[in-house]
Amino acid sequence: MSSTPESQRRAAIDSPAKAGVSGRAAGLPWRAGIGLKPQHFREVLETRPDIGFFEVHAENYMVDGGPFHHFLTRVREHYALSLHGVGLSIGGADPLDESHLDRLAALIERYQPASFSEHLAWSSHGDIFYNDLLPVPYERQTLARVCEHIDRVQERLGLRMLLENPSTYLEFEASTMSETAFLREVLERTGCGLLLDVNNVHVSCTNHGRDALAYLRDLPLTKVGEVHLAGFARDQDAAGAPLLIDSHGSPVDEAVWGLYAHVVAQLGPVPTLLERDNDVPALQVLLAEAGRAESLMSARAEPRRCGVYWGGA
Ligand SMILES: [Fe+2]
Repeated sequence: MSSTPESQRRAAIDSPAKAGVSGRAAGLPWRAGIGLKPQHFREVLETRPDIGFFEVHAENYMVDGGPFHHFLTRVREHYALSLHGVGLSIGGADPLDESHLDRLAALIERYQPASFSEHLAWSSHGDIFYNDLLPVPYERQTLARVCEHIDRVQERLGLRMLLENPSTYLEFEASTMSETAFLREVLERTGCGLLLDVNNVHVSCTNHGRDALAYLRDLPLTKVGEVHLAGFARDQDAAGAPLLIDSHGSPVDEAVWGLYAHVVAQLGPVPTLLERDNDVPALQVLLAEAGRAESLMSARAEPRRCGVYWGGA
């Protein structure tokens, strides 16, 4: 078991004010959303597109003032928000950075997002910070540490977070379990939900020669609280074999749309984010991709079977 007793964790989740964060939102709408990009700030406010929600990277808002807060405050008046962290280093060997958690708590207090998510990855060690989300070995010691870290995040922030499956390019000889078995254990032990990045599933399974549908079958999809869709880049490894890179710089690939249709067929409508962080196109291009996701969801508009809500059991 992870270090924080279940009763303490549940008390923190059920009493967010006691944990330092007041109030809670009702969860993301079962619709498609897009990332909120600075180049679209004004157009979003002027045109108010019909979109389910916006997502922002928490670390871009860890400053006291400035234009990012100015625009996000106004956008938040009209849209649900997903807060996505990229810097907690949940898979790292060190204890979590409590000052980083404090900054996240302040953002959650300020913007009352409908969801908070982070990655199964590490990005810092000691005083060294990396720009990449680095993979972890899937073995017992790492499992215990990741669960401890997620327990601490949920306790401090007073919410049930979502953990995102990674895109990976190498595998550790030290791993003793599959990525899906590792994720299942983390979800079971900590009670957190799953942010299912379907592009990451395609990228990782292609890179490691695995069956993406088998990967999806091996996950508890009812614990999915949000889906990510994104584009990838094609490269080659040292041996000349195809290597896919999770680049977020191109449209969603048809293979990823196919996997997404499979997920929606299982779950029904589910909050779905179109991620684009590089070569960001016109707002209308992103809205069109979101519209395609909503079309797939509306073809399967039965009551949702996902079980993850903000703060809920
Ligand atoms: Fe993602």
